[in-house]
Amino acid sequence: MTRKHQTLGEFIIENQTSFQYSSGELSKLINAIRLAAKVVNHEVNKAGLVDVIGAAGDTNIQGEDQQKLDVFANDKFISTLTNRDVVCGIASEEEDSFISINSNDEQHQNKYVVLIDPLDGSSNIDVNVSVGTIFSIYRRITPVGTPVQLEDFLQPGHQQVAAGYVVYGTSTMLVYTTGDGVNGFTLNPALGTFYLSHPNMQFPEDGKIYSVNEGNYVHFLQGVKDYIKYCQQEEGDRPYTSRYIGSLVSDFHRNMIKGGIYMYPKSSVTESGKLRLLYECNPMAFLAEQANGIAIGGKTRIMDIQPTELHQRVPFFCGSKNMVKKLQEFLAKYQ
Ligand code: AHG
Ligand code: MN
Ligand code: MN
Ligand code: MN
Repeated sequence: MTRKHQTLGEFIIENQTSFQYSSGELSKLINAIRLAAKVVNHEVNKAGLVDVIGAAGDTNIQGEDQQKLDVFANDKFISTLTNRDVVCGIASEEEDSFISINSNDEQHQNKYVVLIDPLDGSSNIDVNVSVGTIFSIYRRITPVGTPVQLEDFLQPGHQQVAAGYVVYGTSTMLVYTTGDGVNGFTLNPALGTFYLSHPNMQFPEDGKIYSVNEGNYVHFLQGVKDYIKYCQQEEGDRPYTSRYIGSLVSDFHRNMIKGGIYMYPKSSVTESGKLRLLYECNPMAFLAEQANGIAIGGKTRIMDIQPTELHQRVPFFCGSKNMVKKLQEFLAKYQ
């Protein structure tokens, strides 16, 4: 049951039993994410006042320069999930390998692993533009009571039990799904409480916004170029509007509310695009499908891709049903 303005805490408790494995463990895990999100939100809000802007001085395993807030958010999510003893393993965009949690004598009794993009859109931190956090949750597949293995993290997206994001925007929202629709909660900063503000979020079937980094246009495959030209044509309800923030979370959030398509294609210079299958594409694909949208990596459904490595990148197209279907028609011409 959902009631507008109920708190996230109330919502988690009331909906716990509708979840198929309702042991309470997943609820504790979502609660831990809620807590870490509030801590990161507090820090993001101070950017410009305290020394959290700029590069941290290291690069992550994917060759990206880590920003101070990338490192801060990564540390906060990992320490919160570890200290509250709610997961058996964590993988993060900012960590070389996965982390196995050995919390106490009754080691590894937890069933869930979490994969996170702790700070999405780091290039936007220094210029006061919205950033986010993305999370993806699976049940482990190796036996409970043993250390987690790589295979626990390399599961196809359709095995996710929950996924969501936090958007640190004009207001801070936590949006998530446990496979029963998508609900969005807005933080009241004075009280530190998330309230249900966007029950049962849905992509409109049609949209008028396309989101892509057009600076890469000359490198795109012909099918994508043709679709972009289609979006720009004056015909019917076109041209569409171009909107690209450069934070996947924010671009996705806007498109889900207003109707639109997000594209990060492969190109002649980036073999697999840029976005990470496990930390970015799978959780967003789960949310999209739960909200009546579509997410594909080209020919295939994102959530059917069998991952082969933690930091794998894939092309990503996601959004309103009819827009993604139209894109597929253009892609099919060149297959
Ligand atoms: P992150 O900050 O977690 O590394 O992710 C950045 C991603 C994503 O948020 C965004 O949509 C995309 O990179 C933007 O890439 P371009 O600057 O190449 O457009
Ligand atoms: Mn990054
Ligand atoms: Mn990201
Ligand atoms: Mn990131």
